[in-house]
Formats: sequence, structure tokens, C-alpha cells
Amino acid sequence: MSGNSLMNVALPKGRLGEKVYSLFAEAGFECPAILENSRKLIFENTDAGVRYFWVKPSDVAIYVARGAADIGVAGKDILLEYRPEVYELMDLGIGKCRMAVAAPKDFRENPERTLRVATKFSRIARDYYGSMGRDIDIIHLNGSIEIAPILGLSDVIVDIVETGTTLKENNLEVRETIVPISARLIANKSGFKFKRAAIERLMAGLGGAGK
Ligand code: PRP
Repeated sequence: MSGNSLMNVALPKGRLGEKVYSLFAEAGFECPAILENSRKLIFENTDAGVRYFWVKPSDVAIYVARGAADIGVAGKDILLEYRPEVYELMDLGIGKCRMAVAAPKDFRENPERTLRVATKFSRIARDYYGSMGRDIDIIHLNGSIEIAPILGLSDVIVDIVETGTTLKENNLEVRETIVPISARLIANKSGFKFKRAAIERLMAGLGGAGK
């Protein structure tokens, strides 16, 4: 079986990806080599007709949109922020968290003033405040967003909240929930046509995955 006839799967590197792999393995797409502790990034099992590769979670949708992967698993946050040209096939019910606005406990909103928002998710923030007609100034950061309001760089942040620990330890609190987030199975549009049988077999095997 050549690489082209295998179902190519982009997995998000990390804890979520390992969980996703075990769901896929239970659904009939095993590739035991992936569990070996190595620095290898590509693993295939020709008997099961599958090839997996580990990529940065925020890059999964790029591989899938461009057809380097037929399918992959990406957070709803990435799909909302980058709007990749992919099919969103299924909510896997794992990697659950929410996109929220958070602020220092003593911050009081003043509707007369432009709100300074620090975030990695500029489009989500712009869409959210735009829908309310609220003027904002976006400060795009790449990580450690929680520091911005503490240092006076921003008034609030728009970021992912899972357990709430990061906010709590930095004296911030959730003010509004923008949208719930979870991991989604995504597919390349033509890959979905050509590998449909395998993808449907996987989806049937996933059934009520993670629910
Ligand atoms: C995310 C998010 C928060 C944290 C929330 O960061 O940006 O910092 O997780 O989780 P909690 O509510 O359970 O504390 P991530 O670890 O993805 O890294 P980042 O700093 O690159 O955003």
C-alpha cells in the first residue's frame, strides 16, 4: 500500500493527541509503533491502512486544508480563528474548555473608553466585540496572555480557560464566556471524497467518542 492510499492523519502533538490516537486505535486504526518513546514524527501501519504524523496542534488544520493530511483533529478555537477550508466532521467530545474574557478582579468596564484586549485569538475577539458594537484595541500576543493586564498592557484578555487555575494564580477572573471549545475531527475536502470509506469506518468506530 503506497502512502497515497493510506489514510493520512495529522495528530496534535501532546496529551490531547495521545488521547485521540487511543480513540482511533480502538476504532480499528491501530499503529502500535506510535507508542514507542522516540523522536520520530511519522508512523504507518499498512495493514490497518493508516499513517499518523505528529504536528503542532495549531498546525493540524494547515496540513489538512492543503491535503498533506486527509484528516486531523483540531480545537474549535483554531477553526474559529483561522477558518481553514476543511470539513468539520465530528465533535470528539474531548479537549473541552471555553473561550472567555477575563480581567483583573478590580477592573471596572467603562463603555466610553476603547477596551484594550490582549489575545492570541484576534479574530475571535474582533468578532465577539464587533457583534456587540464595542470599540476595542487588539493587542496580539503569542502566549502567556495572562500577564498583559497585570502589567497594564491591556484591560482584559480573551483566552482559553480549562480548569481556571492559570487565571486564579494570576488574580484574574472570567467575566464572559464567548464560546465552548472541544476537539473536532476535520477532513481535507478532496481527501474526504477519495478516502471516504476509511473515514466513514473511523467515524462509525468513534461513535460516541469521549462523551
Ligand atoms: C492555555 C491558555 C491558558 C491555560 C488555561 O495555555 O492560554 O494559559 O491553557 O488552562 P487552565 O484554565 O487549566 O489553567 P497553553 O497551555 O495552551 O499555553 P499558551 O501559554 O501558549 O497559551
